[in-house]
Amino acid sequence: MRSIQVQNKLSAPHFGKDSPLSAIISAKTRLPTTNLHPLPETHTLWEAAWWGLQTSKRFQQLDIGTQNTILGACNRTLLNEAYFIEKSGLAYAAKMILLSESTDTAQLYALIGADEARHLSWIEPYIKNEDKIQPNSQFLGFLSRLIEEASPSVLVYLVQVLLEGWGLDHYNRLAAGCQYPPLAQIFTAILKDEALHHKSGGILLKPAEWQARDWRQVREALRLYTKLVQIGPLSVIAEIERIIGPLAIQELEDLLLALGHPEASHRKLTLLKRLMRQPNLESLVDELDATGCFASFSIMQAAAFYQDCQSGRQAAFCLGQDPSSGQNP
Ligand SMILES: [Fe+2]
Ligand SMILES: [Fe+2]
Repeated sequence: MRSIQVQNKLSAPHFGKDSPLSAIISAKTRLPTTNLHPLPETHTLWEAAWWGLQTSKRFQQLDIGTQNTILGACNRTLLNEAYFIEKSGLAYAAKMILLSESTDTAQLYALIGADEARHLSWIEPYIKNEDKIQPNSQFLGFLSRLIEEASPSVLVYLVQVLLEGWGLDHYNRLAAGCQYPPLAQIFTAILKDEALHHKSGGILLKPAEWQARDWRQVREALRLYTKLVQIGPLSVIAEIERIIGPLAIQELEDLLLALGHPEASHRKLTLLKRLMRQPNLESLVDELDATGCFASFSIMQAAAFYQDCQSGRQAAFCLGQDPSSGQNP
């Protein structure tokens, strides 16, 4: 049995155009677009209407400068999350190549790794230097530990089938709503590659090989994925509160409603359930369903949950990025 130890270096430095390797990396990672300069202000990338914020009374009361600060912060979390997902893809592919059972599978993961390296180089110019070593979500830490610790057989399901399947919907929305065409084209190009990564996961999935520890990890991950969607876009609320100060419960509810909760969470939970329900995993999904994992929180529940998080009564979740605001279950 081959044994390797993987460390996903999320905080590794990333020098981009300042690296002596920049010209070689650029030559191998041709952008799907031209005209990267000047980069737009972050707040113009996805507008208030994309988030739904323009329908919030509280948001409407803010001056235009504060509105732009909020949009800039929310959009920055979307980009940062995409950056760290792609960065994690490098460690993922490296592990999967080394633990491949066949040369064909090793080839597949080498190709996936090359795709993730290209995606990373396309997104990197949009990321502030200080953000490149600072993953700011609990989910990214969880994913990183999974990549380091889980067996390849479990990772095929949790990463390729679920996260990359989820990513198709997410990148589609990012591409469709992005106001800066070169970045929209980047997300469209990433989407095409991720579709193949997801498809290969379906081919390689073999739950029959899972050991007891694998099943435990899968159950834990699925419960976390669903919980992060159930609770609604609380990371967006946290960003808004960070900028304008404490929100009353009615303001929380007004903002959650504007952000599309609970309908958006319901749609995403339905998607997640469909992705999870693979051959030989039906009873696992039924088990989650029976315990309410696919029911989104009501507006009142989500607002109360948020307040509990803020006051430390919900220690299990911090308000990092969550999939209702973006990408990850
Ligand atoms: Fe990718
Ligand atoms: Fe991928």
